[in-house]
Amino acid sequence: PQPNVHLEQGRAIARLPSGDSVEVLLYGATVISWKSNGKENIWVSDAAKLDGSKPVRGGIPIVFPCFGPPPKDHATGKLPQHGFGRNSHWEYLGSSSSESGALAKGGDDSIKLDFGLSHQQLSEDTKKAWPYEFGLVYSVTLAKDGLQTMLNVTNQGKEAFEFQMLLHSYWRVDDVTRCTVNGLGSATYIDKVLDAKEQQQSTPELRITGEVDRVYKSIKQDITSIVQDGKSRLDVQRDRIVDSVIWNPWIEKAKGMGDFEPNDGYKNMICVEVGAVDGWQKLEPGETFEGGQILKSHL
Ligand code: BG6
Repeated sequence: PQPNVHLEQGRAIARLPSGDSVEVLLYGATVISWKSNGKENIWVSDAAKLDGSKPVRGGIPIVFPCFGPPPKDHATGKLPQHGFGRNSHWEYLGSSSSESGALAKGGDDSIKLDFGLSHQQLSEDTKKAWPYEFGLVYSVTLAKDGLQTMLNVTNQGKEAFEFQMLLHSYWRVDDVTRCTVNGLGSATYIDKVLDAKEQQQSTPELRITGEVDRVYKSIKQDITSIVQDGKSRLDVQRDRIVDSVIWNPWIEKAKGMGDFEPNDGYKNMICVEVGAVDGWQKLEPGETFEGGQILKSHL
């Protein structure tokens, strides 16, 4: 049997002969399911909108070209929080059996799906708010030993632009209070829950015991792992990017989000997000940036 891909209800679904699968909504090119060994790795809220009316609460929304609320005095200043990548309609560019990359590839054991978004596809309002001629290609590779998601950004215009990017991944866990996030030791971070001051991660393990919203910068380690009950649950490897956001809204913030259900769903998720969010990436005309993640599930 061959890997197969089909398109239905505005999404691309790829399946390997092993049964492992990935599902990508064209709205936002949002990965909304990745199953390995018959189990789901990704958390999506029961109240998430999947009809293109608002960004998906869960999955892997793509944050581009600004992270968080953009600074008013920056070229992205008129865009909404997290930019337009996650709420634009992307084009499905097709599938290929990929022979290169970090995962074990070859023959029937891997498949790559490509999605594209460029200036021409944006709404008139968004084009006005951020008038740069960019091209994005997002590649999602499903292999028998993991998943890789890579964002490629090209400046197709005549003037330089600056951007940030983040793969805002919501991972499913049995119980976040039994998990630690490992591999951030000694990195500096901004704590958005406390005082937004720079701190240093003093312990090798981060335990989640309340609301967490931290932006870790220039992490030396390549891999951040989610460890549950002392066993590695998921390895998130940064590929050509060095920042990560760790986010869990906890009780009150989860209740405050209309599209976050069930209310205690915060116990079953943890966001480990990889990106380039410290300062700005600048692309001159014709230049390209690439960054993403390689994921290994131990389910
Ligand atoms: C995280 C930010 O990446 O995304 C948080 O660090 C933010 O501050 C969270 O609350 C969710 O953002 P949104 O726009 O999807 O509600």
